[in-house]
Amino acid sequence: MKVDGKPFRSIWDEDGAVRIIDQRWLPHDFRIARIETLDDFATAIRNMWVRGAPLIGATAAYGVARQMARDPSDAALSEACAVLNATRPTAINLAWALDRCRAAVAPLPAGDRADAALTLARRIADDDVECNRLIGVHGLNLIRRIAARKPRGEPVRLLTHCNAGWIATVDWGTATSPMYQAADAGIPLHVWVDETRPRSQGALTAWELGAHGIPHTFVTDNAGGHLMQKGLVDMVITGTDRTTARGDVCNKIGTYLKALAAGDNDVPFYVALPSSTIDWTMTDGLRDIPIEDRDPREVTHVQGALDDGTLGRVRVTPEGTPAGNPAFDVTPARLVTGLITERGLCDASAEGLAGLFPARGAA
Ligand code: MRU
Repeated sequence: MKVDGKPFRSIWDEDGAVRIIDQRWLPHDFRIARIETLDDFATAIRNMWVRGAPLIGATAAYGVARQMARDPSDAALSEACAVLNATRPTAINLAWALDRCRAAVAPLPAGDRADAALTLARRIADDDVECNRLIGVHGLNLIRRIAARKPRGEPVRLLTHCNAGWIATVDWGTATSPMYQAADAGIPLHVWVDETRPRSQGALTAWELGAHGIPHTFVTDNAGGHLMQKGLVDMVITGTDRTTARGDVCNKIGTYLKALAAGDNDVPFYVALPSSTIDWTMTDGLRDIPIEDRDPREVTHVQGALDDGTLGRVRVTPEGTPAGNPAFDVTPARLVTGLITERGLCDASAEGLAGLFPARGAA
């Protein structure tokens, strides 16, 4: 996508170094960071300089590539995979990318490993872009169908939670790809953007949509149910960090409540995902998906860029207030109207996923 008229991806390699959009500064400031050491890569993922399931996976792959360029030994490969895998537990793309890296690199002689790892990291990034573009093509059909039922010129009203946008992936985004493609096709849209406490990923979505000229309104997380009751939402589209083989989806905390409200108000609830987000080994998301518990200070404090150009925190609770910070929740498949994948739409069910991905099938 473009920033100030210039095309960007969220991660890329250039002159032997890896560069990312440093998302800690968004939406206030657009900064690019160079990440180099294994520690840089782990910090960037853990502390959310980069975030979003597909981007976490691509970053991990580039991390292995940089490590192999420095030290292509078995020990360094194992260390890179272990350190990166420990950064964030919920998004399956991390383990998916690291498994691919290990499988591709481990059998090679040390002298071939750096090139092979870099080639694979680039392929993972390129494939993510293409998967997300295709998600947009399939999601666009859904939006077209809603638009066709409306009086000419009336916008299709979407709601999204968190940032499943282009900066959460390598490009296009998952939930946002249909929005970008619908807007580019001239379909009028309006997007309700959930704030997404505590990390305010909704502000990133607002930044993205604003840059693309897509009308949107930033709302508190608790507004979604009310908007649906008032008939102001035609469809919900979110992303997912891990999708089980039976179609349960695990996404940013609060997604489950949106799905409940959508079900109660007959609003279609769609989840957009590249197949790298499917955990084929898991069937029961509620029981088995590890939910990341983050620093409670993300809840007791509001954080962001300060006027003096530094990053800072302001406390919003009484000092010493105990706080909990589960970062994701699981929406059971029965609450999901459908999945939008790079291969098309399917039911959120073992049969639906196996129909699109027969080689994997249900676990
Ligand atoms: O904690 P984050 O910001 O990494 O969480 C991101 C999300 O929950 C996204 O919705 C998800 O990764 C889908 S991304 C395209």
